[in-house]
Amino acid sequence: MRILSGIQSSGILHVGNYFGMMQPAIALQAEGEAFYFIADYHALTSIHDPVALSENSRRVALDFLACGLDPDRCAFFRQSDVPQVTELAWILSTVAPMGLLERCHSYKDKAARGMAASAGLFTYPVLMAADILIYDSDVVPVGKDQKQHIEVTRDLAVKMNETYGPIFKLPEPRIKAATETVPGLDGQKMSKSYGNTIDIFGDEKETRKRIMSIVTDSTPVEAPKNAEASAIFQLYSLVASAEETAAMREAFARGGTGYGEFKKLLFERLWEFFAPMRARRTELVTQTDYIEQVLTRGAERANAAAAEVMTRVRAAVGLR
Ligand code: TRP
Repeated sequence: MRILSGIQSSGILHVGNYFGMMQPAIALQAEGEAFYFIADYHALTSIHDPVALSENSRRVALDFLACGLDPDRCAFFRQSDVPQVTELAWILSTVAPMGLLERCHSYKDKAARGMAASAGLFTYPVLMAADILIYDSDVVPVGKDQKQHIEVTRDLAVKMNETYGPIFKLPEPRIKAATETVPGLDGQKMSKSYGNTIDIFGDEKETRKRIMSIVTDSTPVEAPKNAEASAIFQLYSLVASAEETAAMREAFARGGTGYGEFKKLLFERLWEFFAPMRARRTELVTQTDYIEQVLTRGAERANAAAAEVMTRVRAAVGLR
């Protein structure tokens, strides 16, 4: 089984990235042949500062390795180290209906907020389809927000197969039900663009401050509270044990505990949850050569796999 996923290097990784994509991807390494990459071509749709772009890639590589990605069990690489993927994106774009791309939220949401959309943002899902199809991927672990993009990928694969005969496998998304949506500080989905994130490797004071600022309703301390509807509880259940989670659920229902207390518990448990990753990151942060070696080795494997598929694609469409 070929497992593939990418993470966009457009900012600092947060708890939503961790539970949405990183943790499932790390867990899946044991189940097949995993290909994971840093989506720096995609990051170009929002970052036009060359120093920031390359810094972000390095940082994502460091953070992902610190979180437990095992480079001996997967090919870990930069998207742009496999430039053939842009060739496949071009070929796919020639069968991609405009209407399909107009409905994609990557473009639609930004356009709706009045942001000027580039052609690159518009065709973002086509490049993503190329990322997936070029490695004959079977399973794609992603956060729920990427589900539509996997559907587009399948649509484009079907269109290509109908037009040219069987070329592509149809990939399956793997979305973990328990972490379908990780809430941010304001209860909306945690996302860099909403400014409601808790960073995985934020400093202690800032992390505490952000957790203490989670938005709550005005239910009085004595009153029973609804755990399931609270971002505090939802986040706690991701980092706490089953018993701890059950205890907090009961404390919500019982009443008599204020949200401030729950936030303190959340901070403590979350800080402890990421402690081993912080320790590993401290070890890795000076090993820039090692990280570069990992990415180079990953790129070699990825290029070999991509070359095979591209030979098939070029022959099928009549390019050579
Ligand atoms: N769009 C994804 C995100 O923002 C990143 C990504 C790019 C990706 N290419 C991919 C994820 C291919 C899975 C498969 O999270």
